[in-house]
Amino acid sequence: MPIYVKDNIFVLETERTQYVFGIDNSGLNRHLHWGAKCDPADFFIETFGDENSNHTMLDEYRQEYTVFGSTMYRECALKVRFPDGCRELDLQYDGFAQEGDTLEVQFSDRHYPLKVRLCYELTPGFDVFTRWVRLENTGDRPILLEKVCSAEFSLPSQKPYTFRNTNGAWGGEGIECVQTLTGGALVFESRRGISGHNQSPYFIAYQNADEASGDVYFAALAYSGNFKVSAARDLYSFTRIHVGLNDFDFSYTLQGGESFETPKVFCGLAKGFGDMSRQMHKFTVQNVLPQAFAEKPLPVLYNSWEATGFDVNAENQMRLAEKAAAAGVELFVMDDGWFGARNNDRAGLGDWFVNSEKFPNGLQALISHVNSLGMDFGIWVEPEMVNADSDLYRAHPDWTYHYDTRTPHELRNQRVLNLTRADVQAYLFELLDRLLTENNIRYIKWDMNRPFSETGADNLENPQMLWYLHTMAVYTLVDRLRARHPQVQFESCASGGGRSDLGALSHFDEVWPSDNTDAIDRMTLQKTYTLLRPVKTMRAWVTDVGGPNKPTSLEFRFNIAMQGALSLGGDLTKYSEADMEICRENVALYKEIRPLVQFGDLYRLADADEDEFLCTQYVNKSKTESVVFLAARGTRFYKKRVILRLAGLDPVRRYRLEFDGKMIEKSGAYLMEAGLAAHIRGADYNTVLRLFAV
Ligand code: DGJ
Repeated sequence: MPIYVKDNIFVLETERTQYVFGIDNSGLNRHLHWGAKCDPADFFIETFGDENSNHTMLDEYRQEYTVFGSTMYRECALKVRFPDGCRELDLQYDGFAQEGDTLEVQFSDRHYPLKVRLCYELTPGFDVFTRWVRLENTGDRPILLEKVCSAEFSLPSQKPYTFRNTNGAWGGEGIECVQTLTGGALVFESRRGISGHNQSPYFIAYQNADEASGDVYFAALAYSGNFKVSAARDLYSFTRIHVGLNDFDFSYTLQGGESFETPKVFCGLAKGFGDMSRQMHKFTVQNVLPQAFAEKPLPVLYNSWEATGFDVNAENQMRLAEKAAAAGVELFVMDDGWFGARNNDRAGLGDWFVNSEKFPNGLQALISHVNSLGMDFGIWVEPEMVNADSDLYRAHPDWTYHYDTRTPHELRNQRVLNLTRADVQAYLFELLDRLLTENNIRYIKWDMNRPFSETGADNLENPQMLWYLHTMAVYTLVDRLRARHPQVQFESCASGGGRSDLGALSHFDEVWPSDNTDAIDRMTLQKTYTLLRPVKTMRAWVTDVGGPNKPTSLEFRFNIAMQGALSLGGDLTKYSEADMEICRENVALYKEIRPLVQFGDLYRLADADEDEFLCTQYVNKSKTESVVFLAARGTRFYKKRVILRLAGLDPVRRYRLEFDGKMIEKSGAYLMEAGLAAHIRGADYNTVLRLFAV
């Protein structure tokens, strides 16, 4: 995977695409191409002059990384304030360094001691590559960073692009919004301290694309805090996109001799949304996820939250564990309620000590019981938070973000701990380390249930750094705990999917994507989740949610949850023997198809929102096995036969499958081209087809 450098032009080649930029005679960085491969020798840098005094040539230039200043008025990627008050950047090109698949292009300010390095890394076998920026203050006086993006992108066509992002909410994280940018700007951002439930830290931009075809440009930011993705189309019809830390209430003091590295952006160009997802799934498993569990199948998990809420105790957890083990569960997780005075959400957060009334023999008795049933044990924590009614808050009221002159806004009766303080970090590390050292715990669900407010942090000389430093502190805590307890898996949760970005997935093994466990809503949410995030990281519970408004059978709920990392979350003590049999059968089936679901290639064949039914197919690497899930909440207008054209199979191989109660054998070509006529009917239709190469 070559990187060609000639005459200050940098040509980066991925498997099927090319990304090109260069430096012109005046030292400006200029974006040249992102698309199909051309002869690298053909690229050159055109220079053109001003059109008139109001629209300068800089308006028209596509830059690789735009800095604030001069006659450049559009959105910039970098803005700083030098110690003497100058807010203008003027970069000169200094050279580049290339090491294997990594390229660093170096600039420095013509007057001030600031170095700016644009970094790129290619990953063999992928059209996904990585970008980030490194800044260095080589002087001895502080430089204030006011905006620093991880990357700027220029899209090739001058026709408008359509953008897919989310306009979600708690319980509706994956609700998509699709809009075409003809002029002005689109902004997707978070200002809440976490990446959040609403908009997503990525862009997906295209013109005429669908699942299987069309150029799809995408980039996902690996950052779990306040982010900003802004796209603009200018008077020359160019679409440019900036991705990075949100400049909302942001600044960062770069002291003399210090460096700052932005979060990474994983970006690429794919043929259709399906290709984009498959590339990002593999790329993330191989290059982003913590490697300890990345290539291992995730266990079938049971979580107690929807069954017992805060009312956990040794007795009821043991009863649930026995039922979970009987269903074939491999990891039993006790959720909220096990510590301090945590009988409801009004007290106890921060006191990470076992509640001795609920667990008179400590956690040990429960864990031993769970282990004796053949399951691992996992537990819930919410380390970044404190209830005012807690021993921790009574001892350290100054450990939260606050202003002495302002009344703290509580959400869910809790306040956010100031994780930029070393003493808070030490307290949390010590308690969590002790919890993991003293108990045989194999999984942590790390929750975070409210956005920030009253963001005072008088421990910091520059309190506007807290947004960034908080996120880094979470990553560091998790990394330190992982280093001490490598046997423990970590799941990222923030009131559901409030922290489910690629930054979280650089430190956590899996994600709780939504508190909404309604199988019908999950048909939509799971599609959005897996656009850019691996299937295996998507925890999916079968619960008792549904109700008279949207009744679904237990089989239906399994069908949907088996399309991710299958988990159970219902009150199993209330399940009939027939329900338990359904659980046993489906968990056993899932264990057989798990390698396909968690590591196979995903094809979205039909969409619950557009096609009335959902059809997803997973194919293994060698194309010898595949599984197809079909589900519909009810079809309308007598429509019942749909031709299922499968995907991803070997056209010349023959496959056996049970279809409509009969064993049939067909070629991959037939299954993909002619297809199978499936009879989809009923209010609760669901089926799983398994294909085996003959
Ligand atoms: C929010 C999470 O999303 C739920 O799954 C559960 O863990 C609760 N918090 C517990 O308070």
